[in-house]
Amino acid sequence: MGKIILTGDRPTGRLHVGHYVGSLKRRVELQNAGGFDEMFIMIADAQALTDNADNPEKVRQNIIEVALDYLACGLDPEKVTLFIQSQVPQLCELSFYYMNLVTVSRLQRNPTVKAEIQMRNFEASIPVGFFTYPISQAADITAFRATTVPVGEDQLPMLEQTKEIVRKFNSVYGDTLVEPEAQLPGNAACLRLPGIDGKAKMSKSLGNCIYLSEEPDEIQKKVFSMFTDPTHIRVDDPGKLEGNTVFTYLDAFCRQEHFAEFLPEYAGLDELKAHYQRGGLGDMKVKRFLNNVLQAELEPVRARRKEYQKDIPYVYEILKKGSEKAERAAAGTLADVKAAMRINYFDDAELIQSQVERFREE
Ligand code: TRP
Repeated sequence: MGKIILTGDRPTGRLHVGHYVGSLKRRVELQNAGGFDEMFIMIADAQALTDNADNPEKVRQNIIEVALDYLACGLDPEKVTLFIQSQVPQLCELSFYYMNLVTVSRLQRNPTVKAEIQMRNFEASIPVGFFTYPISQAADITAFRATTVPVGEDQLPMLEQTKEIVRKFNSVYGDTLVEPEAQLPGNAACLRLPGIDGKAKMSKSLGNCIYLSEEPDEIQKKVFSMFTDPTHIRVDDPGKLEGNTVFTYLDAFCRQEHFAEFLPEYAGLDELKAHYQRGGLGDMKVKRFLNNVLQAELEPVRARRKEYQKDIPYVYEILKKGSEKAERAAAGTLADVKAAMRINYFDDAELIQSQVERFREE
């Protein structure tokens, strides 16, 4: 069996550097390495609507933002299929059948859903669609027979739930669906990049993100205002690395060649860290270095985005073609699912013949 990659994002805002190190960069590496049969990247608008039902315009506006961010990162529509979730109706159909295989209490135990319900203060007013989105996510993954799902850590409970649905389906109806594996970023700093304020997660509502499409002066302003070690007051004071956002970002972004280019007096990150811990290295110097690293990393991304922005109809055309291709793939799986569930009445000549005989006997 070949390797099929599927992943996606909710279009609720522009993508930020947390998405970049946590997932986008990996996708581009996977794309360029080849070694897979298909790679599907989905803009999960239907999932975004599960907690934005009263604001479809927000979702609508952000589809193009996410598509531009994808292309800006170097995802190539010649090599991967970019598509919009709501344009593949088979995903709804699959979800409807999977719903019978999942209990309410199992959904209530999903840690990501639990945390999101708390975060949104839903309590008793949880929309059913939101509550069941892990099931719809299982449909997204299985529809394409994905073997590999590159995601951030927060999505692991979704993968676990998907595997359970696959096993349950296959045990009830016979081997039909493919069990996927999550693929996390290798670098721990990339798993959960904090916001510039040092808070656990980068999020639009906290205003602590650096966006991929950010202009250079904005990036600099944000880097210079980053949370560091509050006890590192004078340059000579020893500094701490734990919880020091600037160093977490360096762990996530900096490569050996950045030292040769921007900070040749240090051999590498270990030496820089040791100096900081010893004392005698000021925050501003480290921030200036991080700014240079981020600028170098994001400059080509921003430039590519600007090119695509000049031809928006072309970007929609990419999404349309991709959605058509995705629909063909999902239709194949849905046909297999319906056959396995024996709800393919009109394709089943044997069924009709057996009913003929049954009523002849009566
Ligand atoms: N839940 C993902 C997010 O919040 C988006 C998503 C929807 C997804 N369906 C998926 C990711 C299937 C991977 C596979 O960003």
